[in-house]
Amino acid sequence: MSNSPSTGHHEIDNQHAELDHLVDKALVFCGEPINSAASCAACSPEQQASCRREVMALTRELLKFMAGHFRYEEQLMRSLPDNDICREHVRRHKRAHADISAWVSALTARLSTAEPYAVAAELRRILADWTGAHASGLDSSMVQLHQQSVHRELDEDAELAELLAQHRAGFSGESK
Ligand SMILES: [Fe+2]
Ligand SMILES: [Fe+2]
Repeated sequence: MSNSPSTGHHEIDNQHAELDHLVDKALVFCGEPINSAASCAACSPEQQASCRREVMALTRELLKFMAGHFRYEEQLMRSLPDNDICREHVRRHKRAHADISAWVSALTARLSTAEPYAVAAELRRILADWTGAHASGLDSSMVQLHQQSVHRELDEDAELAELLAQHRAGFSGESK
């Protein structure tokens, strides 16, 4: 089940559920409870190496999924109207995607020296908060801006239909 609040966009919500699932997997490799003060020091070097490989595979999967998800949202942003509010939204939203991707990459790089449990715990702690806040903030705003622009287009179409109807009525009146 997704931890992220709904944005009102079915496909984005489905992708968030998958992202939450990946984040929840971050500590499944270790028998210690999430957010405990566990350390890898008590485990054998072989066990630590095995855990390191698992966390590395997970962070790679996460980065790949995040890249695809962000690409999907950024494609949706292209259909937003070209105005100051939307341009500012796109700028902030893309920056947030780039920042969190860079943070996960930097954390992954620390895996060569840090304990795998510490890296996985930090990954889960930060990403669990980030995904929820990002979904209820920028993602929901984007969906609202998108829906408003669709409604505006439909309203404009309705106005056009009304104008055409009046125009045609005028024509038929003139021809009588
Ligand atoms: Fe986003
Ligand atoms: Fe998102």
